[in-house]
Amino acid sequence: MAGFVVRLISLMSFFGVVLSCYQCFIDTDESINLCWGHTVSEYNIRNIDSCFKTLDRIFNNNPRVIEAAKVGRGHDSVLKEILRAEIMPIVEEFHQHMHNDTVYEVRLQAAAETFIVMASGLPRASGCFPPCGFQSLGTVYNCMTCQYDSCEFPLDCPLQEITVAENNRTQMWCHVPFVLPSDIQIVWRYAEAETMLMDQFKEVTVGMDKLFSIPSARLEHTGTYQCEIFSQERSLVRIYYHLTVYPSEVVGQAKLQDLFNKALLPAGQFHLLPSMPLFSLLRLPIPALLTICLTSLLTLLFLALWVLYWWC
Ligand SMILES: *[C@@H]1O[C@H](CO)[C@@H](O)[C@H](O)[C@H]1NC(C)=O
Repeated sequence: MAGFVVRLISLMSFFGVVLSCYQCFIDTDESINLCWGHTVSEYNIRNIDSCFKTLDRIFNNNPRVIEAAKVGRGHDSVLKEILRAEIMPIVEEFHQHMHNDTVYEVRLQAAAETFIVMASGLPRASGCFPPCGFQSLGTVYNCMTCQYDSCEFPLDCPLQEITVAENNRTQMWCHVPFVLPSDIQIVWRYAEAETMLMDQFKEVTVGMDKLFSIPSARLEHTGTYQCEIFSQERSLVRIYYHLTVYPSEVVGQAKLQDLFNKALLPAGQFHLLPSMPLFSLLRLPIPALLTICLTSLLTLLFLALWVLYWWC
C-alpha cells in the first residue's frame, strides 16, 4: 500500500512538469521501472521521486538536449530510436535492483550526452520563408510539446498589383519560396472585385498548372486572381494578384502626352517649335500639308525681300 502511494505521488509530480524529449519517447511505466531501485546515498533510502528529479535535470530541463532534438520533419522517429537505445538497457539492468544516486547520475548523464551527439547529426529543418503559407518542411521538432512547431505564417499571401495594356499578354505565377510536396493540386480562382474574401471567388481551373496566362487581355479580365495550392486535401498557401487592364487608347494618349512633354523646351526659353509635335504633321491630309509648305515658302520669300530692301 505504501509503495503504491509513493508511486502515485511520484506519478503526479512526473506529470506536473512540462513535456520533454524524454517524456515524448519513454513511457511512465518504463520510467518507474528505471527508478525502482534509486537510493539516496546520504540517507541510504529508496526514493523514486528524487530519481524523477534527476531525469528532469538531465533530460527534461536540459537546453542542450532540447536544442539537439530540433530535427526536421519525419526525423522524430529517429530521435525516439536513439533515446530508447540508450535508456531501455538501463531500465532492464536497474529494475528490481538497488543503485545509489551516483550510479544513476553517471549512467543517465552518459545517455544524455550520446543522445545530444547523435540527435545533433540528424537533418534540420530548411527554415521558414515569410510571409505566408503552411511550410511543413520548415518546421522543427519541439520536445516541450512532443510536436512539430509550425512556421506560423498565415495561409493568405499579400495581394500583388499587376497591370497590363489591353490586347497584351500577361502571366501570373503560383510560386512559393519553400519546398512543396510532390502531390500538389493547384486551383485558380477569379473574382471581379479587388478582394481576398473567399466567397467572392469562382473556380477557373483545377490541376497542376503553376502558370496562369492571358494571351490577350481584355478589359473584362480586370479583377483578382487567386491561386491555392493543396496537398492531400489540405490547403498550403493562397496567392493573390489584382490585375488591372488598361484600354489601349488610354495608353496611346498617355504615350503621346509623354512625347509631347519631352518635345517642349525648358521653361523660360524661346519657343520655336510649333504647338503640335512634328510627327503629327505627317497625319495631316495632303492639301493641308501643301498649304503649310506654301505659306512657309512665301514667308521666307517675304523675309528675304524685306532684308534685301533694308540692305540696299
Ligand atoms: C554508489 O555505488 C557505487 C557502486 O556500487 C559505489 O562504488 C559508490 O561508492 C557508491 N557511492 C556512494 C556515495 O555511496
